[in-house]
Amino acid sequence: MKKILILGVNGFIGSGMVEQILSQTDWEIFGMDLDDSKIKDFLSHPNFTFVKGNMLDEDDWVENHIKLCDVIFPLVAVANPALYVTDPLHVYQLDYEANVDIVKLCVKHNKHLVFPSTSEVYGMSTDIPFDEYTSKLVTGPINKQRWIYSCSKQLLDRVIHAYGLQKGLNYTLFRPFNWIGPKQDNLKSSKNGSARVLVQFITNIRDGKPLQLVDGGMQKRCFTYIDDGIQGLIEIIRQSDKSFQEIFNFGNPLNEFTIKELAELTIEAMKKYPKYKENAMNTEIVETNSENYYGKGYQDVDRRVPSINNAKQKLNWVPKVDMLEALQRTLDFHFLEEK
Ligand code: UGA
Repeated sequence: MKKILILGVNGFIGSGMVEQILSQTDWEIFGMDLDDSKIKDFLSHPNFTFVKGNMLDEDDWVENHIKLCDVIFPLVAVANPALYVTDPLHVYQLDYEANVDIVKLCVKHNKHLVFPSTSEVYGMSTDIPFDEYTSKLVTGPINKQRWIYSCSKQLLDRVIHAYGLQKGLNYTLFRPFNWIGPKQDNLKSSKNGSARVLVQFITNIRDGKPLQLVDGGMQKRCFTYIDDGIQGLIEIIRQSDKSFQEIFNFGNPLNEFTIKELAELTIEAMKKYPKYKENAMNTEIVETNSENYYGKGYQDVDRRVPSINNAKQKLNWVPKVDMLEALQRTLDFHFLEEK
């Protein structure tokens, strides 16, 4: 039986892991987070121990649980592009500084570190697809602070790799490609940049506001349903010998759509919920530019396609959920009672 530590367990990925791991395995999970809103249904599960708290103030708990567990997932991070532009220091401090200490503790206690890298590390690379071991990582100038997230993650990837090389750290890096699903960002407000694109579109339709296409909306993403991504993480834990010092892209190349197409698909999908049908039918799609939408310091990625050969070969992992199914499952989670 494995023991797994998840820091940031109430996040999109952490909460998905709790749900899937507790239903598929007999593994034990220990988790810490500031909040428990997404994991409430599992708090009394015998294989789940949750502590509400800030990992930055709980050094002893964190180190003791790194010692206790076999596999460590440091998932505390922010991953919303609007924040990269408005609060780059916070992004660096949380995503890099807070996490490098966890990396060092994994080295000290000789634990399997599974670290969330990101599709953003490939930046504006023109490779199609992005390959974990051969693609160049391409970012923009310093005054485009959008890249601080990409660079913070990339530096930590490099530090982890160096610990592997020089100290034998057992690590696995995984790179989510636009994971979507029920518990992503909250449907809080339709203010620009409150959430990543799908949740932003759903919220705007709900609130009767137009969908805004940044710089024309011809940029493309490969949207990946959360359960497929989580299955990849479970395979990393299950087949730890095959994931030793490996990097895996987890994305769905078959779900590639422009942001304009995503807007149209989301409107169509929302029409199935009577409460929002009229809003969906009247939703306008308008164009804006990135400076208006995000402010100065933004720069975009035009196309982002994962190579998933490494995950296929080493872990026998392939994504299974197509885009329409992913959209429906996400909307049902929020609005099923209104269908
Ligand atoms: C995301 C985030 O950086 C992270 O969540 C993550 O590390 C990574 O990429 C990933 O999930 O793979 P991005 O894909 O740019 O970055 O994030 P979104 O906010 O979902 O935006 C996607 C695209 O839609 C961008 O081109 C953005 O300009 C556009 N967009 C967003 C709109 O056209 N309209 C909107 O209302 C919102």
